[in-house]
Amino acid sequence: MNELQQRIGFYGESPDVEELISTIQMVAPTDLSVLIIGESGTGKEVVANAIHSLSKRSVKPMLSVNCGAIPEGILESELFGHEKGSFTGAIGQKKGYFELADKGTILLDEIGEMPLNTQVKLLRVLESAEFMRVGGSEIQKVDVRIIAATNRNLESAVQSNEFRRDLYFRLKAITIHIPPLRLRKGDIPILVKKFIEDYITKNNIKFKGFAPDAIDQLVDYHWPGNVRELRNFIETAIILNRGEIVHSSYVRSALNLDTKSGVSPNLPMPLNKTPEQAERELIYRMLVALKLDIDEMKNILKHTPQKSWQGDERSGFKPDDDAIEYDGEVQTQTMEAMEKKLIKDTLDRFAGSRRKTAKALQISERTLYRKINEYGL
Ligand SMILES: Nc1ncnc2c1ncn2[C@@H]1O[C@H](COP(=O)(O)OP(=O)(O)OP(=O)(O)O)[C@@H](O)[C@H]1O
Ligand SMILES: [Mg+2]
Repeated sequence: MNELQQRIGFYGESPDVEELISTIQMVAPTDLSVLIIGESGTGKEVVANAIHSLSKRSVKPMLSVNCGAIPEGILESELFGHEKGSFTGAIGQKKGYFELADKGTILLDEIGEMPLNTQVKLLRVLESAEFMRVGGSEIQKVDVRIIAATNRNLESAVQSNEFRRDLYFRLKAITIHIPPLRLRKGDIPILVKKFIEDYITKNNIKFKGFAPDAIDQLVDYHWPGNVRELRNFIETAIILNRGEIVHSSYVRSALNLDTKSGVSPNLPMPLNKTPEQAERELIYRMLVALKLDIDEMKNILKHTPQKSWQGDERSGFKPDDDAIEYDGEVQTQTMEAMEKKLIKDTLDRFAGSRRKTAKALQISERTLYRKINEYGL
């Protein structure tokens, strides 16, 4: 791993990553808007941060807005601000993200979820750097670099009239595709090494490493959750193996490699284990993954100058909340009761945010939604 990779926190050895990094270096110093496309967990946010940090705008913060997490009616006023009395509850004038990000960068995450009305305003900002606050009549001028990210296929969103064609063409001029991890397996060994180093240094623990055939299995695996899943897996493996060597038997059972049909990594079917042991292992893994995600969020809130919707006081997330500790003891209850409690606690912890809850539990928002209905939460 070279110095630049270290500086931007984006690691890899595959030709894809090398090319990606040279594109980042090329576009970073310009003011061009960039569209980053990649499946969930491929590192879109890392790449956006890298572009910002290698640009002359890095003295200013990069503001990150999740267009999919903010209710449609609020998004426009969040982005462009509003004038006093422009709608019920607008008790004063408020600056939006575009004004706050002046001379800096704005990351429009999940751009594919942006409502059509807001897309019109965004196109205007892209073309003339101008906009008006909600309820305002004065034209505001800003100097903001726009980076957009999505895991959706915007082309089909254009076909189905969910995304404006003109905006799509404007945005896609500079597109960075981050391939899924399964298509750049050459990156896996170095990512494993890096995540181990990070984790043991941060927690000041000793770890004997992965057996060579266990590494081979990690390289073979298809990682549907991409780099995020790999990182969570490594950290969980270190904890569950208590710093001892991680053998291929652990990897096989944790990644569920013995069952041909089910590809769900959350349902272990370990050999030689009673259903109770298997259940317990499942709960441990979910709790550990949850703790790691909470730690990551705390870390982001503490160490980055970003102001994001998720890290906002409005989300109710308190950085000092105690994370769930892994203590090796879980009471035996029914699977449903444990799952229901885990989902309820996680929803509470993230102030009802389904997106963050789904992310922490490593399930899709759709699955979470189904379970919320199923359990009447
Ligand atoms: N090449 C990489 N090197 C080091 N860490 C990486 C790399 N790619 C991703 N990560 C790590 O993986 C995790 C997910 O990355 P990130 O949040 O940028 O993904 P994303 O594409 O924005 O996902 P989502 O679509 O779910 O928001 C982060 O912890 C990030 O640090
Ligand atoms: Mg992201």
